[in-house]
Amino acid sequence: MNVCPVDFDDDAVRADLRRELLAWFDGRQRDLPWRRHRSLYGTWISEMMLQQTTVATVVPYWERFLARFPDVQSLAAAPEEDVLAHWSGLGYYRRARQLHAAARQVVAEFGGALPGDVDAWRGLPGIGPYAAGAIASLGLGLPEAAVDANVRRVLGRWLGASGQPGSLPARTVEDLARALVRGDRPGAWNEALMELGALVCQARAPHCEACPVRASCGAHQLGIADAPAAPGIRAVAVPVQVLLIAFVAADHLWLEPPGGRLINCGVDAAPARQELGSLHQGLLTLPTTAWYQRPPRRSLGLLGALPPGWAAVAGFPGAGPADRVGSFRHAITRFRLVVDVAVVDVSRPWAAPASNGDPWPGAKQGRAGRWVPLADAPGLNISQLARKALRLIADARG
Ligand code: ADE
Repeated sequence: MNVCPVDFDDDAVRADLRRELLAWFDGRQRDLPWRRHRSLYGTWISEMMLQQTTVATVVPYWERFLARFPDVQSLAAAPEEDVLAHWSGLGYYRRARQLHAAARQVVAEFGGALPGDVDAWRGLPGIGPYAAGAIASLGLGLPEAAVDANVRRVLGRWLGASGQPGSLPARTVEDLARALVRGDRPGAWNEALMELGALVCQARAPHCEACPVRASCGAHQLGIADAPAAPGIRAVAVPVQVLLIAFVAADHLWLEPPGGRLINCGVDAAPARQELGSLHQGLLTLPTTAWYQRPPRRSLGLLGALPPGWAAVAGFPGAGPADRVGSFRHAITRFRLVVDVAVVDVSRPWAAPASNGDPWPGAKQGRAGRWVPLADAPGLNISQLARKALRLIADARG
């Protein structure tokens, strides 16, 4: 390991570094809605969302979420499907359910008052050390470190890390984060670190020429800042192919909860994941095959592989042929999906809806779900996969 040429134990070195980075942050920080009128509640929501995806994606979600659930009371009182609907598209719904559970806990146990210290935040569902530190510093102004992957990379470079995995003990970074957050404006300090990591000291290119604190950076002084950043522990992407089927009967569409019976398309490939319940819980979706491991640059031809009589076995006797509508790409957690979409007309054997309000009885055999007017489907609480499939179908039908 390199010996760091910057002495962070020196109070004057830390003071200079803090002053320079905070001055840069005050002039250059992005205008983000949760920064405009800082509130503890808004900070909590933004930190939960920002653990999922990029700032640019989060901004409109945060604004819609705050408009619908302006405080912890309204969030706690909301039905779960409403919370999930406002999360739909951010992915990893478990985090939304944890957020909802935490809001209910805050109301039940603290009378609706959000925690005032880092340990109490750590006690809530979905809050790990990073989120607790970020919320406590940004939302409460407490001198708590908040070290996520970006901040770890920035501090690692300051400490003269070569960028190779294992070149720096993790504790050194945590210790430096704790030493530097002590001082005035701890929240702004942590956010300045995040901002430097996002805008300047990036993983693939550190942009030292634009860095306001390069004079205090060990890696820059050692001339190794350009070394590739440690890749960190990143989940390996899993390429997947799946077929979604829109069963349509007289302008009604079949939607069902996830985790139902899979469409068997008789393909000889390894399923990457069979059980989608945990990813899409609380939402409605389209009947689907398993998610199959996708070979590079080749399609599994799921639609062509459907065996004779498959629709009846799947619970839709009398279904017509499956018409291919198209495909789209989608990413959920580590899965990289190619999603094929087909439409199947089920209305033939039942010319008109039955008078008992159960228009297509055959389609229910062994499947939980319901028929909804096609035009209403996009307004329902449906998965992002189903939403994209419906858009494709609408485009195809002109
Ligand atoms: N990432 C995590 N928290 C953030 C914040 N408050 N601003 C920008 N990016 C962030």
